[in-house]
Amino acid sequence: MKVVTQLAEWKRLRLSITGTVGVVPTMGFLHEGHLSLVRRARRENQAVVVWIFVNPKQFGPKEDFGTYPRDMARDLALVEHEGADYVLAPPVEEVYPPGFQTRVEVERLTQRLEGAARPGHFHGVTTVVAKLLCLTEPRRAYFGQKDAQQVLVVSRMVRDLGMLGEIVTCPTMREPDGLAMSSRNVRLSPPERKAAVCLYRALCAARDAHAAGQREGEALREAMRRVLAAEPLARPDYVSMADPETLEELATLQGPALASLAVRIGATRLIDNMPLPAPEG
Ligand code: PAF
Repeated sequence: MKVVTQLAEWKRLRLSITGTVGVVPTMGFLHEGHLSLVRRARRENQAVVVWIFVNPKQFGPKEDFGTYPRDMARDLALVEHEGADYVLAPPVEEVYPPGFQTRVEVERLTQRLEGAARPGHFHGVTTVVAKLLCLTEPRRAYFGQKDAQQVLVVSRMVRDLGMLGEIVTCPTMREPDGLAMSSRNVRLSPPERKAAVCLYRALCAARDAHAAGQREGEALREAMRRVLAAEPLARPDYVSMADPETLEELATLQGPALASLAVRIGATRLIDNMPLPAPEG
């Protein structure tokens, strides 16, 4: 496995790679969710590139860029074990050198949910992902369903700009109690870790009500709020039952839907979601 930090060196290397490239974009501090993406990329491509870069442009001024968990040595050992060929781990000055002034922005989709709660977050994501896709020219790029809105926004960007390569979405990986895997979970104290399962429980409550025939968006959102209200350590940011393509809140569910939520547990903000299938018949 080759670790590359300098983009000029990477560009030379990329020209020598002839087969299909699968890229796994990450901000490091890897967990089983990321590794499931690397494994799939390994199965489906001739060369696998893992991107490890904590992207300052997608953090707001009051967010946790400085304290975002990092452990490069451990990350490198994990991806090497999964058979990655290259790790691209540039320093911030390589990605955003002096004079950098380009921004890639997807408009409407980014106004909702995470975009509404974290202004500027998504243009940070799309700018760095666009740069990564240009640098690696992958046949496939792998993203986790855990960040459902990110996948939609990146897919929109790829379609709108005519970028080659396919965006592949992989299922959310969960701890045995249902908590979605996230690099931020390490910040939870033991009582917070226990409380954090309320996100998954809330989503399950919506899923169960939906399976039992509930089609009113507000009733489904209320089912999630009730579960969260029963957890004293949880401070909900939003709960949503939205169209899975446009992310517009649904009054009545007639097709598939996306249940999603953001909740603060202590100082840690967690997100999770569950796609709901179209009602049968
Ligand atoms: O999902 C993430 O870890 C990041 O948003 C990404 C896609 C690596 C861009 O920095």
